[in-house]
Amino acid sequence: MTDFLEIHPSGPLRGELRMPGDKSISHRAVMLAALAEGTSMVHNLLLGEDVQNTIHAFMDMGVKIEAEKKVSSNLANPVLEHKINGVGLWGLKKPPQPLDLGNSGTSMRLLAGILSGQKFDSVLIGDQSLSSRPMGRVIEPLSLMGAEIHAKEKMTAPLIIKGRPLHGIRYELPVASAQVKSAILLAGLFAHGRTEVIEKAATRDHTERMLRGFGASLTLQGQTIAVEGQPKLKAGVIEVPGDLSSAAFFLVAALIVPGSELVIRGVGVNPTRTGILEILQAMGADLRQENQREVAGEPVADLRVRASALRGVRVNGALIPRAIDEFPILCVAAAYARGRTEIREASELRVKESDRIATMARELLRMGAKVAEKEDGLVIEGGAGLKGAEVESHGDHRVAMALAIGGLSARDRTRVADVACIATSFPDFTLHLQESAK
Ligand code: S3P
Repeated sequence: MTDFLEIHPSGPLRGELRMPGDKSISHRAVMLAALAEGTSMVHNLLLGEDVQNTIHAFMDMGVKIEAEKKVSSNLANPVLEHKINGVGLWGLKKPPQPLDLGNSGTSMRLLAGILSGQKFDSVLIGDQSLSSRPMGRVIEPLSLMGAEIHAKEKMTAPLIIKGRPLHGIRYELPVASAQVKSAILLAGLFAHGRTEVIEKAATRDHTERMLRGFGASLTLQGQTIAVEGQPKLKAGVIEVPGDLSSAAFFLVAALIVPGSELVIRGVGVNPTRTGILEILQAMGADLRQENQREVAGEPVADLRVRASALRGVRVNGALIPRAIDEFPILCVAAAYARGRTEIREASELRVKESDRIATMARELLRMGAKVAEKEDGLVIEGGAGLKGAEVESHGDHRVAMALAIGGLSARDRTRVADVACIATSFPDFTLHLQESAK
């Protein structure tokens, strides 16, 4: 089977798009609906492989999840609505085999939190990339809560989780990570007493918003998030907004292909995620939020973007966690921007689906960019654009999509190899690209 994408220099991108459901919110919707009492309906759940892995894990633990087709009036395609029959906080069953979470770090880390406090043991496994990602960051705080988790020597998966009674803790996050924060808060649901997490830099707060939506007692005080243990979670209706991290590829595509104008409808614009919008605007992007509204506890807007002359920018500090998944595509924007873009204090990028500092530096060099790799980021001297080249994704969905977008404005043809991974977060990426570049 061919596993590459061939990208030719594109004419203007125009029209309206809708993005698939937000990946982070989709995972959490499945998890909390499964732990709630009653039936929840989830609209616009992402159907990417990562979320499928979360769905299958809960089905393996006895949760009934059904997809129902709904024809929506404003879309050509039928939209799936998922019906999740919650089993209640203590209703999960011991899975008959190890839970395979594929490429999905969010599934593994959040599930580690949920499974630590169960009355049964479980095993979490993943693909090669996931099996090399750091799990010590969740094992440490969960162990402080009373969990017993066995990992490989380097604190990597497989994780063997022995279900234990948990107690609340007060824990200051050593890394800015929404996955670690969420793992602790989810474990806190099963713990006796109160669990408090302190974060130095704000990371995505979808878990907090959704826990409240499901009726948990969650309070925020400054940078401290506290959840009371052993609540009754109540089923509900969740509308998953379009994924801003997926929209980012089309925003940059429209910015770098002359004459483009796109409107992307119904995108999540939670302020803990909008770093990319602020960075692109600081680079001179003609990019606006329209029709701002709130849907199921999350801010949503339509994004209008027009091709723009971009300039380099410096990105560091609190902006990093607020744009953490957007650096591959930001590097592409930087290659087309006049002047220097400097991304620093971003060493977390080295432990994503690939080492995104190394992979983006290597592949953009092949496309003729002037890139210097730093321990904690990248420096890109932009302005000359990119040339077509043979590049590869290193099995990382966001690297694959970023390179494909880079090819739209490149001189000559670009061929991106190893693109099956795109299906982890954005199965219809190529289809959307073809539609908007028609
Ligand atoms: C996510 C948190 C981030 C992000 C990931 C999704 C989440 O990871 O990169 O794609 O859903 O909580 P970290 O917590 O490792 O920063």
